[in-house]
Amino acid sequence: MTTYEILFSPTGGTMKTANLLTKEFSPDVRVVDLMDRKADFSAIPFRPEDLCIVAVPSFGGRVPVPAVKRISRMQGNGAKAILMAVFGNRAIDDTLLELKEVLTQAGFQPVAALEAVAQHSIMPQFGTGRPDNRDHRELMSFAQQIKEKMAEESAEELYVPGSFPYRPYNGIPMKPKADHGCVRCGHCARHCPVGAIPLEDPNRTNTQVCISCMACTAFCPQRARKVSPLVLLPAGLAMRKSCGGRKPNKLYL
Ligand SMILES: Cc1cc2nc3c(=O)[nH]c(=O)nc-3n(C[C@H](O)[C@H](O)[C@H](O)COP(=O)(O)O)c2cc1C
Repeated sequence: MTTYEILFSPTGGTMKTANLLTKEFSPDVRVVDLMDRKADFSAIPFRPEDLCIVAVPSFGGRVPVPAVKRISRMQGNGAKAILMAVFGNRAIDDTLLELKEVLTQAGFQPVAALEAVAQHSIMPQFGTGRPDNRDHRELMSFAQQIKEKMAEESAEELYVPGSFPYRPYNGIPMKPKADHGCVRCGHCARHCPVGAIPLEDPNRTNTQVCISCMACTAFCPQRARKVSPLVLLPAGLAMRKSCGGRKPNKLYL
């Protein structure tokens, strides 16, 4: 049996949260990086006895489009899947339902699902410092409950929250741009999951292609890529209510 961790994590919060769960299943994990726009995802030899922890961030209450496309190319061959929607302290809306649909269509067998909070990747004033020690303890307990459920070999279909048609999401008007600190090293272009930054001219952004995932801001060694504060500040104020308080992590079995 192989344990896979299948991740789309532009700024690392999804990966950090998923790792807290995954390490409870196996110390030896094969990572599949859904950020890699050049990988051949159809070539991974999943088997029915394998376990896949599939973690994506919630973008507008949905699964990020490149993650949907890349999972759709996989051949799950009946491998078990634990679904994880990581969110920035607002809500996951239809993320788990969409993830369940795309994984099922690709031939995976969903056995458990969870929603978990990580610091908001655009507005770090929400979900600040999460996942924290309390999240860690909760995720360890979730892992235990998932193991017990898997031992039962239940044939019941997994319930996850969400409704169809999915919440419409057409992106957000927050596209990071390079400022005068850009030294054209190209790190951002190499890490962009959708190829929105030309390698030969990395201080530009193709805003039609950019999904605002913030990978470029996280990977820039100069901290030279940013969303304009003129856009960010009012958006942060508008979201204070919906992103306030401490949102719980939730497990679905
Ligand atoms: C474009 C975009 C849309 C987002 N939409 C939501 C959302 O609808 N609900 C929410 O709670 N968090 C939302 N977030 C926050 C992320 O889901 C959260 O910060 C996640 O941990 C980011 O994962 P990463 O650190 O692996 O990139 C959004 C973030 C981005 C970049």
